[in-house]
This record gives sequence, structure tokens and C-alpha cells, in this order.
Amino acid sequence: MAGGTQILFVDDESALRTLTAERLGDRGFEVIQAENGETALQLLEQCAFDVVITDLRLPGVDGARVIETALERYPGIIGIVVTGYGTVKDAVDAIKRGAADFIAKPFQFDELMHVLDKALEQRRLKSENAYLRSQLEDRYQFGGILGHSRPMQKLFQLLETVAGSNSTILVTGETGTGKEVVARAIHHNSPRRGYRFVALNCSAIPETLLEAELFGHVRGAFTGAVGARQGRFEQAHKGTLFLDEVGTMSAALQMKLLRALQEREFERVGDSQTIKVDVRVIAATNSDLAKMVSEGTFREDLYYRLNVIPVEIPPLRERRDDIPPLVRHFLERFAPGTPMHLSQGAMRSMMAHQWPGNVRQLENAIERAVALSAGRHEIDVPDLPPELQTAPPSAVTSFVDFPENGLDLPAYLTSVERHLIQRSLERTNGNRNRAAELLRIKRTTLVEKLKRLGPD
Ligand SMILES: Nc1ncnc2c1ncn2[C@@H]1O[C@H](COP(=O)(O)OP(=O)(O)OP(=O)(O)O)[C@@H](O)[C@H]1O
Ligand SMILES: [Mg+2]
Repeated sequence: MAGGTQILFVDDESALRTLTAERLGDRGFEVIQAENGETALQLLEQCAFDVVITDLRLPGVDGARVIETALERYPGIIGIVVTGYGTVKDAVDAIKRGAADFIAKPFQFDELMHVLDKALEQRRLKSENAYLRSQLEDRYQFGGILGHSRPMQKLFQLLETVAGSNSTILVTGETGTGKEVVARAIHHNSPRRGYRFVALNCSAIPETLLEAELFGHVRGAFTGAVGARQGRFEQAHKGTLFLDEVGTMSAALQMKLLRALQEREFERVGDSQTIKVDVRVIAATNSDLAKMVSEGTFREDLYYRLNVIPVEIPPLRERRDDIPPLVRHFLERFAPGTPMHLSQGAMRSMMAHQWPGNVRQLENAIERAVALSAGRHEIDVPDLPPELQTAPPSAVTSFVDFPENGLDLPAYLTSVERHLIQRSLERTNGNRNRAAELLRIKRTTLVEKLKRLGPD
């Protein structure tokens, strides 16, 4: 629980401060000390702490100001105030303004730990609730398709607009981007939802049988056609027909499909009776139909019939903000009810990967990692598939999200710097010379930075 938690501890009594900081350090917290309010404010300027513990009575800038500044700057921060004789009223005021708790001086270390643990636990529950709430928010999904990124948000808007119409839709996107889930979501958000969604993968059926599959056949229409059968067009009457991999059809069949789309009528194989249907068609492909048209392998008129409303799903590598929510989504799917998460390193690899197999590949990676984690709650790099185990060095810069309401650039850069410095020291077992080498900076610069950022 304490791991990685950074505490700013402010007190002008140096003996008490040092001792408490040391004991918190023993419990695994990273503690930075400040002996007065001014220093505390400076430190708050530089780093995002998880917790600020401050004496209320300080010479100069007092503890109430420190807490107030901290809360204003970092709304998620935990403020704990320490009161001495005659400052209880101030403590109550601090709590009214958002401090988590207070503790009276003189205190036992265990009392402080109790207050701290309680506040951390509360914060954890709060962020968990926020997460659960965000899961319920429709904004980030459309019929079970998850999407936080801007391109997906735009896609949802388009889907909402077109779902209600009867227009034919052509869904394009690389393998695993979610073409089928999009088609289903359109159906379930359309007035046709009470009728069937019928899917047919055109590339999975031999050409000779595909026509019968689409339009049905009468008894004896071809060898093996023992009885009459409905085709998918008929099955989808009043509903939606999803034609997957539509780019693989023969020229003859392309023509028959064109007629069915134009007239909404066709004949079963071996029959002369015309059947009329009311079907909405959604087609999908991961081949470049426009190129096939120019090469003469796909009918131009059919292309325009299908492509009335083009819906293009961007590859996952072009919407990396979707990776963390998708990871959470699949962790919950494959380890329901368990508080699973990815280590920082594992998440870094996920963010840096190119994902040629898109969401399906990510889904498989998480399923595999959950299986390999054997009851551990943290998935680490070795649990990931081999192709994810080496992240390119430029990874860090390529996935920094720009949050909707902006960010505090100096604080953000400081936290990145602090993080990288800490990692360089971990890598070199605390050897500052080698850490400086790894960071391509002078040792003196490193020492300066460490001083500015607080002790390592
Ligand atoms: N945005 C998303 N949110 C949640 N799950 C998704 C999303 N996109 C894809 N998936 C999941 O990824 C998997 C692949 O999706 P789907 O089968 O729709 O891809 P596809 O584009 O049809 O791929 P292919 O071209 O290989 O047929 C499915 O298990 C689907 O549930
Ligand atoms: Mg598919």
C-alpha cells in the first residue's frame, strides 16, 4: 500500500520531523521533509505528492496555507494536519476546506499510521468508485464498444446518427479493430433491434455455396440440396444482414448482390419466384475496395451501393488513449471481481506496441497474461506475449495523453524527470555515476536535480 506513495512532511521541530520521516520511510513511504511553510510551497510547486502532513503552527507561512495550496493544486491529494495546543479550531477549519483528517500533538507514531492508512484507503475507494461510475457512463461506449479516444468518440457520434436510418453501411478497418462489434452495435441501436442480426462471412464459404447461402435454394437446386432452404437475406427480413469480408466475392455473385441491394428482391437458387425482403445491409472488409475497383476486381456500382455510409475504424496504434480502458475492460472480463492491474513496465509496453492485430490482439494478450499471472494481482512484463516484451526507447514520448482539461506542464515534467531519475538509480543500484551516464547528464547535474526533487 505504501509503495510509491510520496509524502510531504512539514514541521519546524526538527527532531520530531526527522524521526517521523524515518519511521514512515521504514514503512515504505517516500518522505520529503520541509522545515517551514515556504519550503513546503516550493516543493509543492515542483512535485505532485500523494499526501501532505503539516503542523498547523509554523513560523511564517502557516500549515493552513500549505494545505490549502496543496488541495488547490492537486485535488486528489490527501491533507493531514497536525494540531498543537490551541489550534483545534483551525484543524476543524482545515477539514472543512478539504483536509482528510487531523491528529493532535503529541502523537504516537501508530496514531499517525492509523490516520494515514484510513485516508489512503478512503482515497482508493473513491478512485475505484469514480472508475465504476465512469464504466457506467455511456459516453465512453456505444453498444459495448469501448472508446475514450477522440477518433472513437467521433465514430460513436456517426454511429448514433446513422443507426436509425436504413442506409447501407460499409465498415472498414484492419483486422481486429472491431468491425463486427460495430455492425452489431448499429443493429442494436436501430429500430430493427427487435428482429434478427444475421451475419455471413463471405470468405469462409466456398463460392459455389455462397449464392445459396445468401439467397436460399429449392429442393434439388444442386447436388446435396435435399430440401428447400431460406437464405440469409430472408432470415434477416426486417432485421440486419451483416456481410463480412465482402471483398472476396466472384464477379457473378457481385452482380446478384447488386441487384438484391438495389431492388431488395431476388430468387432462391433453382427457383424463378421472386422474393421481396426488407433488410438493412451492413458490409465489412479489411481489403481496400476502392483499390480493387480501380484494378477491376470489384464492381464499381456495387462499391457505391455498399459504401453509402462509410464507417472507418482507426487502428489501435492511432488511438492509444483507448489502451488503458481496454486493458481494464479485458482484465475484468478474464479475471472478474479480482483487483488485477498491470505494472508500470507492462503498461508501458502495451502503450508502445504497434498492435498489428488491434483490439483482438490486445484481448488475447490480456487473456494470456491473466492465465500466466497464476493468482498474482499484478501483471508484469514477463507475463506479456514475447512481441510485447521489448519496448522501443521512444515509448515514453509517444503515448503521453493530453487530458481534456489540460495539465500542469511544470509539475508534469517534474514528475516525468523524477520518475526517470528514480528508474536510473534503481537500474544502477543507486550508483549515481552510472545513473548519470545512463541519463547522459553530468553527475553534478544529477546531484543537483536530486537535491531539487528531494532525497532519493
Ligand atoms: N472498441 C472495442 N471495445 C471492446 N471490445 C472490442 C472493441 N473493438 C474490438 N473489440 C473486441 O475485439 C475482438 C475483435 O473484434 P471484431 O471481431 O469485431 O474485429 P474485426 O474488425 O471484425 O476483425 P477481423 O477483420 O479480423 O474479422 C472482439 O472480441 C471484440 O469484442
Ligand atoms: Mg470480423
